[in-house]
Amino acid sequence: MRIDVVSIFPEYLAPLELSLIGKARREGLLDIQVHDLRSFTTDRHHTVDDSPFGGGAGMVMKPEPWAAALDAVVAQGGSASMPVPHLIVPGPGGIPFTQAMAHDLAAEPWLAFACGRYEGIDERVYEHAAARMPVTVVSLGDYVLNGGEVAVLAMVEAIGRLLPGVVGNAESLVEESHEDGLLEYPVYTRPATWDDAGTARAVPNVLLSGDHAAIAAWRQQQRVARTAARRPDLLAASALTTGLDGLGLRLAVPADAPELLVLQRACWVPEGRANDAWGIPPLVETEEDVRAGLNAYQTWVGHVEGRLVISGRARVSPEDPTVWELGRLMVAPDLAGRGLGRELIAFLEAQAPATARLAWMNTGERSARNQRIYAKLGYRRQQAPPRYPGTIELTKRLR
Ligand code: ADE
Repeated sequence: MRIDVVSIFPEYLAPLELSLIGKARREGLLDIQVHDLRSFTTDRHHTVDDSPFGGGAGMVMKPEPWAAALDAVVAQGGSASMPVPHLIVPGPGGIPFTQAMAHDLAAEPWLAFACGRYEGIDERVYEHAAARMPVTVVSLGDYVLNGGEVAVLAMVEAIGRLLPGVVGNAESLVEESHEDGLLEYPVYTRPATWDDAGTARAVPNVLLSGDHAAIAAWRQQQRVARTAARRPDLLAASALTTGLDGLGLRLAVPADAPELLVLQRACWVPEGRANDAWGIPPLVETEEDVRAGLNAYQTWVGHVEGRLVISGRARVSPEDPTVWELGRLMVAPDLAGRGLGRELIAFLEAQAPATARLAWMNTGERSARNQRIYAKLGYRRQQAPPRYPGTIELTKRLR
């Protein structure tokens, strides 16, 4: 990977000669070129800043040296494998830098970093750059640094260590904080009991047990507990990556009725539109009707951060004990497309009693998306006339 860094303090980037990143450079895995912005000035004083139009405190970086510097960087590319760099401009007003972004950037052949100082870079430089290459403004976090250099050190380290061969033990990259949305478990080394000036501090027993399954379970539980304590925001997000398992699916109770009503209205508006059917039960039911439904069906609900986001219900058909009727399958619209609906259907099928032979459901005649999903899951359209006009009925053999 090639990385160009433009800064008025090239010496600031000297730590990139050290440790694993320095070694990667020496081994040719990483080609880092640091450029002094001042060398692209044309005046005697090598001026890179000026006062802001419109007034205000501080100075603004002038456009001309930046344009010249970025053009010089771009001019070094042009080959098919490295046409232009992806320009990263560190700044507190950027999108957050994350492990996922580090992975994305590590997959690119060429990155350039523009280190701003003072109150920032003249906005027209972003336009100049965007006409030549992809540009992303990236922030390390919600605080203000004096310039982009420290952010570049952090980002280059986070990106560089993901390149093949940079970190010797690739496995150590997998079990890290943020790699799967959870923080890392605590680690210990010898001595097993440390005499800390009279206080005996012991390593958790399970780690000395040699029981690998127990150790893995303990570590996972520590990761979840630590994430809940320090970064509850991540726990909710990781619940989404673990799929249905992370949503704490449980049977609904009457107190769930108001939220179920809100979710079903939200989920059935697209159905109403697709079928031009605004009188369908999920759209017109009252909270009382929803509560009554909880008595007639077993209804399951799942939550993210206390918000009811998924639900489905099922019952043994009153007419035929071999038929397991599924219904009211809903996933909050903002969580659609993650496969949760499919998981929900599989879950509901798995709840069928031993007497059930056939899973049954219905959907709107013109609900093309639903029909596609159900067909993929093995549901076949019934030819018999449907119970409700405007719907089709589908079944799947369970056993
Ligand atoms: N430059 C100044 N503050 C910054 C921040 N929070 N992240 C990245 N670059 C910055």
